[in-house]
Amino acid sequence: MSSSSSKMLLLLLFFFTFNSYYSFASSDYDTFVQCLSSNHNTKNQIPNIVYGPNNSSFTSVLQDYIRNPRFNTPATRKPSLIVTPLQESHVQAAILCSKKIGIELKIRSGGHDYEGISYVSEVPFIILDMFNLRSVSVDIKSETAWVQSGATLGELYYNIWQNSKVHGFPAGVGPTVGVGGHISGGGYGNMLRKFGLSVDHVIDARIVDANGRMLDRKSMGEDLFWAIKGGGGASFGVVLAYKIQLVPVPPVVTVFRVAKTLEENVTDIFYRWQFVANKIDDNLFIRLLVQPTSLTKKKPNLDMKKKKKPNSGKAPGQKTVRVTFIAQYLGNANELLSVMKSQFPELGLTQQDCIETSWIQSVLYWANYNNGTSEKVLLDRKSDSENFFKRKSDYLKTPIPKDGLEGLWKNIIELGKAGMVFNAYGGQMSRIGESETPFPHRNGNIFKIQYFANWKEQGAEAEKKYIEQTRTLYSYMTPYVSKNPRESYLNYRDLDIGTTSNGKNTYDEGKVYGEKYFKGNFDRLVKVKTAVDPDNFFRNEQSIPPLLH
Ligand SMILES: Cc1cc2nc3c(=O)[nH]c(=O)nc-3n(C[C@H](O)[C@H](O)[C@H](O)COP(=O)(O)OP(=O)(O)OC[C@H]3O[C@@H](n4cnc5c(N)ncnc54)[C@H](O)[C@@H]3O)c2cc1C
Ligand SMILES: *[C@@H]1O[C@H](CO)[C@@H](O)[C@H](O)[C@H]1NC(C)=O
Ligand SMILES: *[C@@H]1O[C@H](CO)[C@@H](O)[C@H](O)[C@H]1NC(C)=O
Ligand SMILES: *[C@@H]1O[C@H](CO)[C@@H](O)[C@H](O)[C@H]1NC(C)=O
Ligand SMILES: *[C@@H]1O[C@H](CO)[C@@H](O)[C@H](O)[C@H]1NC(C)=O
Repeated sequence: MSSSSSKMLLLLLFFFTFNSYYSFASSDYDTFVQCLSSNHNTKNQIPNIVYGPNNSSFTSVLQDYIRNPRFNTPATRKPSLIVTPLQESHVQAAILCSKKIGIELKIRSGGHDYEGISYVSEVPFIILDMFNLRSVSVDIKSETAWVQSGATLGELYYNIWQNSKVHGFPAGVGPTVGVGGHISGGGYGNMLRKFGLSVDHVIDARIVDANGRMLDRKSMGEDLFWAIKGGGGASFGVVLAYKIQLVPVPPVVTVFRVAKTLEENVTDIFYRWQFVANKIDDNLFIRLLVQPTSLTKKKPNLDMKKKKKPNSGKAPGQKTVRVTFIAQYLGNANELLSVMKSQFPELGLTQQDCIETSWIQSVLYWANYNNGTSEKVLLDRKSDSENFFKRKSDYLKTPIPKDGLEGLWKNIIELGKAGMVFNAYGGQMSRIGESETPFPHRNGNIFKIQYFANWKEQGAEAEKKYIEQTRTLYSYMTPYVSKNPRESYLNYRDLDIGTTSNGKNTYDEGKVYGEKYFKGNFDRLVKVKTAVDPDNFFRNEQSIPPLLH
């Protein structure tokens, strides 16, 4: 082959691989902008909220809220347009105009969807990017707040803290996570044993439906209001804002991180913890981070507060598993020590392990900020994660026997990269009925499990390898975790558990992933969907299907 023809081939290859923009005629662009103007009374603002691919800011606006670099490659499908509403009425216009030109609309708040489904699609689409709609208004007198869906959890926590040092909200530990995705998908954090989920504290909402109507709790009715408290917003409409009930937090909370390796008998400690985790004092939440490590490796920052490891007598460089116990206790260290001494002495918690701090500083601690960092960092919307990653989830209802744990450690060591997080359930989670919200994983769970792999290497080969590691662990765990259905957490989006082919979105397809995420609540979600969006305008790879009509 001559060098010029091979160059041509390369060019062609480049064209087919990287021409990842959906073609969208400039006449479509003009139609869309005109439509927005005619559907809105402040016409002169409309052009400033639409970014076409030939706009010099298009790429940065797109990338600002891509939180998983797996979906930020030249080959990743790009939207035809990005619409960034400045007012709630812009959302109404965007829905009506997307409908008119017949294009899919993806809704993005914080952009943290683990599979990127708020900003990637296999069919031509528009992104409705909510980042400008992020006001938080706290009313301490009624102990409530209205929070717009484009706000981050960090912004929410910061605003609560500015108004009161003894109020908080039970939501996630990632400060840059968006309210829109997080709360509509359930939302849990380190106060879930005391207070349950975020959705257990939602008292009103504003949403725009498929007909462009702006509704509140009263006008949407209790069925739709129920659905957007854990059923995922994106199947039903665009959530503009939630009204939440704040919860009391004590002036002093206590946190700790204690790490143990296999050489420190972690198998016995872990085994015992399974009988205590979901029964211990509701004020205490402990997360277990399980990772492969090697005995010589310096421990990461995350274990800041560590005692020196006793000499294990093992060869340096030997591979092992480290389990880090990360705790939040709503009370002081003395109370925590007495709880631990009577109910979980196996961990050997000491006074030196415990850090007494304020609730807002505990938020920073959980987000791995160094002590002394200003609370203002919670207003920083930039995400620090440059890793590629994959996540999966499971629920554990019966303790894993010791030989099961030993097999798990062996797998983790052999794989070398993937790890797991075990989040204790019980407490308030067990007192709320399975169908009170679409989130069904309530009584009877010891842990919710997250499988994770993070990596830095570029390319499809690394991606395949590390994703496969999470699947191997997931597969190993089959005999130990929930069955029929094998349950999953919607906010830990995982396209491995089933998807719907876009546009078709049949009941049978939806049932495959829908029962894992929602168990018996799936059918009620389908009913709500059929009533509010029978033509399936709001759809995505794992949305709730309407019944055919
Ligand atoms: C660092 C990190 C920490 C996390 N910690 C926790 C945790 O402690 N607890 C927990 O429960 N989860 C946690 N998660 C998961 C997180 O809750 C989900 O990824 C959540 O869906 C992200 O919401 P988002 O708005 O940022 O994402 P997006 O990608 O914007 O949205 C996620 C989904 O919601 C839809 N959606 C977004 N906004 C709206 C809206 N306004 N109306 C209707 N639909 C909408 C999107 O279309 C998409 O389907 C964490 C994630 C990360 C990356
Ligand atoms: C490109 O931008 C111009 C205005 O700057 C607009 O008229 C045109 O339709 C745009 N084309 C596309 C494909 O977005
Ligand atoms: C890009 O789009 C934004 C939002 O509509 C607009 O304000 C800006 O003028 C556009 N820039 C260019 C160079 O067209
Ligand atoms: C681990 O358990 C063994 C046997 O029960 C015991 O002898 C040893 O001291 C323990 N090691 C640690 C670090 O607790
Ligand atoms: C931060 O440091 C101060 C002073 O050393 C200490 O009193 C406090 O407990 C620390 N807080 C955390 C969360 O580590």
